[in-house]
Amino acid sequence: MGNPESILVTGGAGFIGSNWLSLMVPRFPKCQFINVDSLTYAGNLASLQHIQESENYRFHRADIRDRDSVNDVWMTYRPDTVVHFAAESHVDRSISGPIEFIETNVIGTLNLLEAFRTAGDTDRNRFHHISTDEVYGSLGDEGLFTEETRYDPSSPYSASKAASDHLVRAYHRTYGLPVTITNCSNNYGPRQFPEKLFPLMILNAMEGKSLPVYGTGTNVRDWLYVDDHCEAIWTVLTEGVSGETYNIGGNSERTNLEVVHSICRAVAEELGRPFEDLLGQITYVKDRPGHDFRYAIDASKIQADLGWSPKESFESGLKKTVQWYLQNPEWIAQVRSGEYRQWIEQNYTQR
Ligand code: NAD
Ligand code: DAU
Repeated sequence: MGNPESILVTGGAGFIGSNWLSLMVPRFPKCQFINVDSLTYAGNLASLQHIQESENYRFHRADIRDRDSVNDVWMTYRPDTVVHFAAESHVDRSISGPIEFIETNVIGTLNLLEAFRTAGDTDRNRFHHISTDEVYGSLGDEGLFTEETRYDPSSPYSASKAASDHLVRAYHRTYGLPVTITNCSNNYGPRQFPEKLFPLMILNAMEGKSLPVYGTGTNVRDWLYVDDHCEAIWTVLTEGVSGETYNIGGNSERTNLEVVHSICRAVAEELGRPFEDLLGQITYVKDRPGHDFRYAIDASKIQADLGWSPKESFESGLKKTVQWYLQNPEWIAQVRSGEYRQWIEQNYTQR
C-alpha cells in the first residue's frame, strides 16, 4: 500500500495516538488526519495543541461504542484508511470495572469494522489495529512472544484486546478486508496518563510521594519509547502485508524495581536531589490480581520484513520522558482532575 490520503485515527487524544499524530501530521501534509475520540479521562486535547491548527488535521468528538455515531463519522469523512488506537487501556481499571473494556475495545472495534466493510464506493486501503503483547498471557523466566504464540489473556483488558484482534482477523478472512495488526510491548514517553507505571513514578518521585511497587517488584516488562512504536505503526500501515500481524518490542527487558530505580536516578539528576532519598520513597503494596509475570517480544519479523528497529535507548528515552514531565506542569495539572484523584485514592489507599 502507498501513502494513504485520508486516515480516520481513533483515540488520537490518548497517549500513543497523540504522539503518533504529533509526528505524522506535519510529516505528511497531503494526507488528511481525522481524529475521532470521545475524550474519556485518558483523552486530552492539550496533548494536540501544537497541531490543532494544521490544515490536514481535524478533531471530531464521537464514541466508537455508538454504531450510529461511527456511521455518521464515516459518511462525513469517507476515509480510505483507519488507524485504530481507541481503547480502554489500563489493566487495573479493567479489574475494578470490566464492562467498559468490552464495550469500547470489542463492540467499538466491531462498529469500526462494520463501517469499513459496508463503506460502499469508498476506497479501502487499510484497517490498522493497534494491539498489545498482553494477548499472549505471561512468560516464565525464558522465551519470547512471537506472532505464532497462542493467545492466553489474563485480565479483562487483555481478553478484550484479544477479542478485538480476532474480529479484525475474521473480517480479513471472511470479507477479504485489507487489515494489519501490531502487538506491542509497554510504551513510555511524553503525554502518558499518570496512572501508568512511568508517569506515576516520575510524578510521585518529583513530589516526594510514595512509589507503590506491586508485589515484590520482580515482574518484567519489555519497554519501548513511544516514538519508536509510532514509527513502527507507520511502517506497517504503509509497507506491511494485508492479513499479517507484526510484533513490536524494545528488546529492553527490566524488572519493575529496576525501572523504578532508574526513574529515581533520572529524577534525582534532574532535580539535584540525593538518589537515596528518592529510593526511600519506595513502598511495596498488594499485588495486582492475575498479574502477568513477564512480557518479552521477538520483533524479528518486523525487523527482517520491513526494516524497522527501535532507535531510542532506555536511558535516553527515560531522560527525555522525565524532562518532558518537568517541563509541562500545565499538562499535568490539566489531566489531574477530580476523577484522577478519585482513582489514586481508590486504587492505592486500599492496597
Ligand atoms: P490511552 O488510554 O492513553 O488513550 C486511549 C484513547 O482512546 C483516549 O484518547 C480516549 O479518550 C479514547 N477512547 C477511549 N474510549 C473511547 C471510545 N469509546 N470512543 C472513542 N474514543 C475512546 O491509551 P494508549 O496507551 O494511548 O493506548 C492506545 C492503544 O494502544 C490501545 O489500543 C492500547 O490497547 C494499545 N497499546 C498500548 C500500549 C501502552 O503501553 N500504552 C502498548 C501496546 C498497545
Ligand atoms: O504490554 C503492553 C501493555 O502495557 C498495554 O497493552 C497496556 O495498555 C498498558 O497499560 C501496559 O500494561 P501494564 O499493566 O504492563 O502497564 P502498567 O503501567 O499498569 O504496569 C506496568 C508494570 O508495573 C506492571 O507489572 C504493574 C506494575 N505497577 C504498575 C503501577 C501502576 C506497579 O508496580 N505499581 C504501580 O503503581
